[in-house]
Amino acid sequence: MERETPISQAEPASDPMHDMPVQPSTPCCGKAWVIVGSVAAAVIALVAIAVPLLWEGPDPGKLSPWTEYFGTLHPMILHMPVGIVILVVTLESLGWMSFGRYKPQTTLALAIGLLSAVAAATLGYLLFMTGDYGKATLDRGIGQHLWGTIAFIVLLSAAFAVKLWNDYDGRKPVLYGFLLMAATGALTLGAHEGAVITHGSDPLDGLKNLLNPQKGAAAKELPVIPASSKVADLLAYDQVVVPLLNRYCYECHSEAGTNPVHAAGKVKGKLSMTTIEALKKGGSSDLPALVPGDVAASLMIEVMRYPLDDEEHMPPEDSDQPSADEIALLEWWINAGAPTDQSVAEVGGADALFPAIEALLLPAEADAVSE
Ligand code: HEC
Repeated sequence: MERETPISQAEPASDPMHDMPVQPSTPCCGKAWVIVGSVAAAVIALVAIAVPLLWEGPDPGKLSPWTEYFGTLHPMILHMPVGIVILVVTLESLGWMSFGRYKPQTTLALAIGLLSAVAAATLGYLLFMTGDYGKATLDRGIGQHLWGTIAFIVLLSAAFAVKLWNDYDGRKPVLYGFLLMAATGALTLGAHEGAVITHGSDPLDGLKNLLNPQKGAAAKELPVIPASSKVADLLAYDQVVVPLLNRYCYECHSEAGTNPVHAAGKVKGKLSMTTIEALKKGGSSDLPALVPGDVAASLMIEVMRYPLDDEEHMPPEDSDQPSADEIALLEWWINAGAPTDQSVAEVGGADALFPAIEALLLPAEADAVSE
């Protein structure tokens, strides 16, 4: 028998890649799985919408340490759905650009992305319950982060279900593409608000300032203290209090552009310390950081007096700590009514603190500044 012909027909090319057909669309699963997957996606979407509507808000009083621990995992896990969705969008975009010659198999990745998004959202609730992100209400930042990411979960669930059916009956993925893009948009907005919560200031502000330094608020200059100054003549606020706050607090409590040390600026605990008005208004606790004339009611002093290992002690434990004299200087200024236009001598009563004021100034100038 002549056997050569069939063999050469079965292996026509020496290079097997050469004649490889366009990848066929492989249905991911049987109809039963498609139905199970769609129902699961629908349940996820419904629960995602229902939880914030039915939830009464956090109750930091009754938290187990486990809640707090798992809450801290939220910022870690949330990168998983973000990464997966970016990968899926990239692969699908390549598929669409190749006009169907490349058919990425993204269904399983979508399922894992959706489940990881559910995990991240659950941990997000636990983190929110610990109350570390401010008062126990759905204020602007948390509200937008919450609803943005819930819209993402709902849209991703829908995209996943439609994708299952597309895989099954081979329909064109137009609706799927639309839902995937909408989910990505919602994720971008929700994640951006999350970043604002975590970093305290809008990360895009830094970019705006870089691109448009003129339009951003002018960076505040630290007051220049002439070498010939006498402590008594220094301005109590501009030349004593501001350098103090600059040294110990502005790093984390000043808006972009207003901070002489860090151009990007951070507003941790929603507390800006660069103006008297902002200090009086206070941060996320809604307690005034500064009450002119009343040290006991001024939260900025209270937190500095907490024990160093107290979570709310300021500046945080691993930051440079003010000396007792430096805290006393702030108290002296607050007790005097937090004046912004008086010299040290006009405010009066600070003689005992002159050495602390000198030490606060630049070392080279400190020598010159003596009575
Ligand atoms: C390294 C960063 C950092 C530095 C430096 C820092 N803080 Fe804070 N501060 C924070 C963070 C973070 C929070 C929010 C804590 C929270 O919400 O649990 C906060 C919150 C506060 C609050 C509470 C605001 C509110 O209303 O809830 C006060 C008051 C405060 N800081 C004062 C100060 C003072 C005064 C200094 C300087 C002596 C200072 N901080 C320096 C990071 C810092």
